[in-house]
Amino acid sequence: MSKTFSAKLLKWFDKHGRKDLPWQHPRSAYFVWLSEIMLQQTQVVTVIPYFQRFIERFPDVNSLAQASEDEVLRYWAGLGYYSRARNLHKAAQKIMLEFQGEFPRDLAGWQSLPGVGRSTAGAIIAQAFGEFGVILDGNVKRVLRRFYATHEADEQLWPLATKLTPQKSIIDYSQAIMDLGAMVCTRSKPKCMLCPLNQECSAYQTETVQNYPAKKQRKALPEKEKYFLLMINEKNEILLERQPSPGIWGGLWSLPSVDDLQQFPQQALEKLPSFTHTFTHFKLTLKPVKIRVSTSLQISETLPQAWILLKDLSKYALPTPIKVFLCANDL
Ligand code: ADE
Ligand code: SF4
Repeated sequence: MSKTFSAKLLKWFDKHGRKDLPWQHPRSAYFVWLSEIMLQQTQVVTVIPYFQRFIERFPDVNSLAQASEDEVLRYWAGLGYYSRARNLHKAAQKIMLEFQGEFPRDLAGWQSLPGVGRSTAGAIIAQAFGEFGVILDGNVKRVLRRFYATHEADEQLWPLATKLTPQKSIIDYSQAIMDLGAMVCTRSKPKCMLCPLNQECSAYQTETVQNYPAKKQRKALPEKEKYFLLMINEKNEILLERQPSPGIWGGLWSLPSVDDLQQFPQQALEKLPSFTHTFTHFKLTLKPVKIRVSTSLQISETLPQAWILLKDLSKYALPTPIKVFLCANDL
């Protein structure tokens, strides 16, 4: 079974797989690692331009380790899930300081780095070194659940993923299984007619593909709301604060936020239309308030602050909804 699974997948990959991704040429450990981190929650098409800008500025692990977290976040701004960037930066420093600048060669070494879990470590071992490494990311889980028509928990899929992974052609196989999940065995409207595994696929053969993976009973996301202060001084500068980490926007520069407006004189406030942003675990209603100030009001006692002109916004890493809001509003 595993022989035909990988053989069929590899044959499909030869014809349809992705072989010209920027991190495949050259396929260095640094490129593979960086791309796998970027690809953890983000699609290939989105990642490509970020990857290219990133490696131009940080061509190797040393330059990444030497940079400030602030600058690394600036090159990440817009990709989301910013803990990935902070962990990447920490991991680069660990590689330089503890591993003498050498990348780990084994699974345990990679998994000891911040931001690298079992599947990412497996992907790196396979893609960077051509050694046996098992991948079980979201795409692969979906393929396996359908192929075996199973609702097993994630943890129970590891032995299956391991058994299917061949000893040979590991670089192509690891890319092939991810490509199949991303391009053929997609979450909605999978293209089973074009799938090289359809003869053996249990879900397809029993016409139950739509049952896998089972729909989670999702609770409604908790909702939060906050006032976001667009403070403008007499020089037409706005105030940004660097957000604490850990935190959803840790390390990014954002507008100061408060739960209520009691501390401000009502006549100084202009409320702007609110909007919402959905995070993984909650929904946030952002209620922007414009405040003209003559002296520098102290909002937070602890966060680093910067008064900046709107034209200098691009020098700061901002969360996307805040950036969009600022670009859409004149002062
Ligand atoms: N998702 C995670 N890793 C990937 C890769 N190497 N290619 C395509 N999608 C991926
Ligand atoms: Fe996925 Fe369909 Fe292929 Fe089965 S036949 S692995 S459900 S694309």
